[in-house]
Amino acid sequence: MATAEVIDLVALGEDFVRDPYPVYAALRRRGPVHRVRIPEGAEAWLVVGYEAGRAALMDPALSKQWKNASPSFPLSSPAAGPHMLNQDPPDHGRLRKLVVREFTARRIEQLAPRVAQITDELLDSMTALPDGRADLVDALSFPLPISVICELLGVPMLDRTAFRDWTATGLTDPDPRAREAATHEVTAYLADLVERKRLEPGQDLMSGLIRTTDEDGDRLSQEELLGTAWLLLVAGHETTVNLISNGVLALLTHPDQLALLRADMTLMPNAVEEMLRYDGPVETPTYRFTTEPVEIGGTVIPGDGQLVLVALADADHDPARFPDPGRFDIRRPAGGHVAFGHGIHYCLGAPLARLEARIAISALLERCPRLTLDAHPAALTWREGMLIRGPQRLPVRWDS
Ligand code: HEM
Repeated sequence: MATAEVIDLVALGEDFVRDPYPVYAALRRRGPVHRVRIPEGAEAWLVVGYEAGRAALMDPALSKQWKNASPSFPLSSPAAGPHMLNQDPPDHGRLRKLVVREFTARRIEQLAPRVAQITDELLDSMTALPDGRADLVDALSFPLPISVICELLGVPMLDRTAFRDWTATGLTDPDPRAREAATHEVTAYLADLVERKRLEPGQDLMSGLIRTTDEDGDRLSQEELLGTAWLLLVAGHETTVNLISNGVLALLTHPDQLALLRADMTLMPNAVEEMLRYDGPVETPTYRFTTEPVEIGGTVIPGDGQLVLVALADADHDPARFPDPGRFDIRRPAGGHVAFGHGIHYCLGAPLARLEARIAISALLERCPRLTLDAHPAALTWREGMLIRGPQRLPVRWDS
């Protein structure tokens, strides 16, 4: 049975931010859907469990368009414009197809040597540090994905530090005014960038998208172009950062699994899948709003633009799907996890994210044979909000 009461997740404080899994599991034992207050400052219907979560992600009555939110919904979209992840069919398909066309498997594969080279350069700088310690987020997890996505999009001059602040603030700052200001800044920045690309087009993805707009304006409008560039830049780095950080953290806190991997690095692809399942970067994916009443596990969610959040983190810890889900086991058949979502919005960047994580974590382990955590795991501070899950800093040392 679901509960009628509103569960205030904010009141759970830092404990919930650090380790939300037991909270979700306790809710799941009571039923698949619960009314909650979320840290972002809104009420939502939270869906827990694997089957219920996947069903919700496939439900056409749940719209991704913010215009379908109830008029009293207190938050506004952080996006710089319309894009595939905030649209429903048929626009979703049109916008996705235009990007898929540019985001080819070949283009991703061709990136492998470049990803390896950027990783090596970052690890050169890190291992040259005199005291043998660093914050891995700063040294590797953050700069690698943002460098790669910028190269893919053809954005060499991106002010990466400012961009990092804008997107982090825009997505997860508890203050709505700070989130709106950050979104405003990033939109202005992208508009300027598109103008510069229009004047000096290249062979990159952004130039390809601009060509589509210019040649056939009714297929990708200027707003959609801005929205899509925003989505790719944000999705392309906010998430992969935390796959690398959460994955390395899982290895360093499970020395038996780390030793297993070091002894047989061919386990890496499966280990990355288990990292995604065990502690994925997206805790609850982007917002869905009801357009008609939706029944989940005997509870009917009204159809008037109610926010529905699917706890991916809990779906991937549901013992009905993954036996002994709290165990990090790099040899587990980890396929079937929903860390990249499910249904029509399934992550477009999954092959790129996997490629980056495999290359980055392999290189890190090879270059740092004595890598350890340089902090007590309980002392780590975690990203706020329920969208992105990852440590703010990950202190490591490699000379011990
Ligand atoms: C480990 C890294 C990543 C994770 C865990 C992840 C996760 C996700 C999830 C859960 C969704 C679905 C959201 C929803 O249904 O509300 C999604 C969608 C998406 N992701 Fe990723 N992502 C990652 C990396 C990337 C990268 C590197 C890119 C691009 C460069 C990317 C681009 C996208 C796009 C464009 C969508 C929207 C797809 C659509 O609406 O059809 N992602 N991602």
